[in-house]
Amino acid sequence: MRIAISTGGGDAPGLNAVIRAAVLTAINRGWDVLGIKRGFAGLMGEDEVIPLTKDAVRGIAHLGGTILRTTNRGNPFHYPRLQPDGSIVEEDRSDELLANARQLGIDAVISIGGDGSLTIAKLLCDKGMNVVGVPKTIDNDVSGTITSFGFDTAVNTAIEAIDKLHTTAESHDRVIVMEVMGRDAGFIALYSGLAGTADVILIPEIPYDIAKVCEKIAARDRAGRHFSIVVVAEGAFPKGGTVTLIGESLPGQARRVGGLCEPIAREIQRVTGKETRSLVLGHLQRGGMPTGYDRLLATRFGGAAVRAVAEQKWGHMVALQSPHIVTIPIEEALKQPKRVDPNHDIVRTARELGVSFGD
Ligand code: F6P
Repeated sequence: MRIAISTGGGDAPGLNAVIRAAVLTAINRGWDVLGIKRGFAGLMGEDEVIPLTKDAVRGIAHLGGTILRTTNRGNPFHYPRLQPDGSIVEEDRSDELLANARQLGIDAVISIGGDGSLTIAKLLCDKGMNVVGVPKTIDNDVSGTITSFGFDTAVNTAIEAIDKLHTTAESHDRVIVMEVMGRDAGFIALYSGLAGTADVILIPEIPYDIAKVCEKIAARDRAGRHFSIVVVAEGAFPKGGTVTLIGESLPGQARRVGGLCEPIAREIQRVTGKETRSLVLGHLQRGGMPTGYDRLLATRFGGAAVRAVAEQKWGHMVALQSPHIVTIPIEEALKQPKRVDPNHDIVRTARELGVSFGD
């Protein structure tokens, strides 16, 4: 049996722990393991395919990033190719990918990725490739699994930042608006905002009214709380408005959202008269050592993915349905993206504690 492992899309703390667990459990079954570099680029002659031995995965479980590297511009069905005139044309290179995999004697692929990579995994499976998926998302926006590795680490990074902002905001009587990741889902903002005791939390699932945000800050000021912390998900948007786009996306890349914390901060300062600063936490949330929770979950996912391969669960992904790791069809997970339920107890508890969602 020869399997290959690929990591695609944005990285997440815990990827290396999945790779290590999958490699060791596969080798312990007597299988051969290859690593496809940079998403599926290694299978399209755009990068390498490397042997993954026990030595190759030694000492990596605690490291952020991915030893296989990754890309969010590597969809083999829409692969961007630079033309001689400088323009970019997207090509379907999936047949080439499958042929190269066959030539390398790859019997099955473990594809670790978010909704984009899982969609690709499903399409490759439909074309005859034996694929098992492992959900990866720091945003916690993949359905069918209670959570994925990387989310807990990102939330902890955000909480640590909020704690630090609290002390400086309080000493200066300032408002600080901190933007966290979450293009479409507000889980990082909600979890870190509530655990970090933010005063306002803005998420894509609850469109905000900036006047309500300012009211909350002014009310705190009147009550003698002269500072406030606002945590905003990058994909949040005002009632009747749209998300803020940041910069240009490269060909083959999803639209980039964010950068709204600065205009929100300006508006808060204008309306309340309170000195307001902003901070984009950005990719700090994606880097560094995975938490113990994420390392364990990633390790369980890696081991379960190899079991799923042994059981020929093609087109399935591993998922956490506490307390068990199960396998579910990838298409089931993709049917509906996971979003914050505005009636969830976490939202209700936050409201009951006096947190404003700006609505
Ligand atoms: O993994 C998803 C995500 O964390 C989004 O919240 C964010 O918009 C995106 O990644 C940014 O990724 P990149 O900067 O790598 O394009």
